[in-house]
Amino acid sequence: MLKTIRHPLRTLLLHVEAVFDRAFGPHWNPIRQLGTLAFFLFWVCAVSGIYVFILFETTVAGAFASVEYMTREQWYLGGIMRSLHRYSSDAMVVVMVLHMGREFVLDRYRGARWFSWLIGVPTIWFLYMSGISGYWLVWDQLAQYVAIASMEWLDWLGIFGEPVATNFLTPDSLSDRFFSLLVFIHIFVPLFLLFTMWIHVLRVTQPKINPPRGLAAGTLVMLVALSLVWPAVSHEPADLAVVPASLNLDWFYLPFYLLFDAWGGRTLWGLAVGVSVLLAAMPWLPPLRRSKAARVALDKCNGCRRCFADCPFGAITMEARSDSLPFEQEAVVDTDACARCGICVGACPVSTPFQRAGGLVTAIDLPDFALGHVRDLTERGLRALASEPADGGRRVMVFGCDHGARVGDLEQSGVAVVSLPCIGMLPPSFIDYALSRGAADGVVITGCRDGGCYQRFGVRWTQERLEGMRDPYLRSRVPRQRIRTLWAAPTDAAKLEEEVQTFRFWLRGLEDDHSPPPPEAALAPESVE
Ligand code: HEM
Ligand code: SF4
Ligand code: SF4
Repeated sequence: MLKTIRHPLRTLLLHVEAVFDRAFGPHWNPIRQLGTLAFFLFWVCAVSGIYVFILFETTVAGAFASVEYMTREQWYLGGIMRSLHRYSSDAMVVVMVLHMGREFVLDRYRGARWFSWLIGVPTIWFLYMSGISGYWLVWDQLAQYVAIASMEWLDWLGIFGEPVATNFLTPDSLSDRFFSLLVFIHIFVPLFLLFTMWIHVLRVTQPKINPPRGLAAGTLVMLVALSLVWPAVSHEPADLAVVPASLNLDWFYLPFYLLFDAWGGRTLWGLAVGVSVLLAAMPWLPPLRRSKAARVALDKCNGCRRCFADCPFGAITMEARSDSLPFEQEAVVDTDACARCGICVGACPVSTPFQRAGGLVTAIDLPDFALGHVRDLTERGLRALASEPADGGRRVMVFGCDHGARVGDLEQSGVAVVSLPCIGMLPPSFIDYALSRGAADGVVITGCRDGGCYQRFGVRWTQERLEGMRDPYLRSRVPRQRIRTLWAAPTDAAKLEEEVQTFRFWLRGLEDDHSPPPPEAALAPESVE
């Protein structure tokens, strides 16, 4: 059922992402930077909040006037800071909701990713509590409405014994004790928020928590411009003897108050708790059907740590040797954290298809999609390529990935394909192998769009391995001009097919031409959206 919802949404998202890729470039594309932008907005909010707090009078009598002072008298700094504080927190809601939606649509919340998703749920609560508690402090009519409604909402739970709302909020006064409590909440809840944000990425290897500088600067400039054009202002001062007649609600944090007015505490609590429980359970609704986790063959492992360095999910630890081989360490896989991407297999120095004695056995492998099977598929493809294609184009072996553009559809005379769980599973020696058998004239390496790798680092590590920046390298004897890297999302399938055909005919030209282009030109990564 969820798959039916996800599929059209994914197509839409990938099309929109392609438009943004063209406008911003893949690395500055804000849609790919939603998590890092949420972190950045938190810092903008924190810094502007500290400035606002310096000017803020933490008493019932002085709060409103001090906010008015910064908005009107010191508009050029205090006012901008107040607006920045408001707009960055609003933007955080937008960015967080989009980030959550994107992870859902791309099916990046189940299996090894359950932890980040689950911690995301209290993060939502803390973000809302931080934002709502901020509205109390202005002590204008909106603050009055939000404070009273919040307390009534809490009172509905009956956990405080006596009703908080009536105890602290009398018709003509608000106790200073209560106001101090509000200030205290608005300072400490964001600290909890930061704590959950930290836990959220704790299990993510090399998490990106800072957006590219240009994107951060652009976001800040936009927020400052918005603050100048449309500064945040207060309502009339709070007056507990008067019920506010009309209010401008903040549509990012406060729409629930309308629901509270319409439905009352019971329904709203039911909704909030129900939605949270549903969200928290989503990684298991249904659980991702998982193949067997990566497995280490200890007698082959020399403890070189390459798999440990390349695993994008922190599923490998290096531990003291448990056998008698003369190495210090061995790789150990945490089966729960393992995403079955196979990137460790591609990293391992033992993973070479040139092994001849017996079957292909490597030091770390996916039991349900073993490297020996990848070699069998490659050989089958090479056998299919052995004869000259009728259309005169050259023969190409395509190695692709299950999450990028479907390579199965490319198979035809002159093109053989192998699809892997992630292109990062492919040891570069397979390219050498495919070309050295004499059946393929060229090799295409394809996987998710640059910057959008489903398995996080598969595309990046592949690029670095091919460029000689990361082990295992591609041997220097391999003619680089016979390799094309084409990064393509599922929605780029038609373009990928076109590029593969272009490459086939380009290879024919290469054979006729006695001055082939420099190898780097052929290896330059290309995105085919
Ligand atoms: C203030 C709120 C949030 C911030 C700052 C934030 C930030 C981040 C960051 C920086 C990453 C790591 C990206 C990477 O390097 O691969 C991440 C991953 C993730 N986030 Fe969030 N996030 C927030 C809220 C949420 C929420 C509410 C959910 C869902 C309930 C969520 C779901 C996920 C998932 C599933 C991943 C894992 C993606 C992966 O492993 O590839 N996040 N988040
Ligand atoms: S398959 Fe290998 S690289 Fe991928 S998550 Fe599992 S241990 Fe890590
Ligand atoms: S890359 Fe291979 S040899 Fe090196 S530690 Fe990992 S499993 Fe062992």
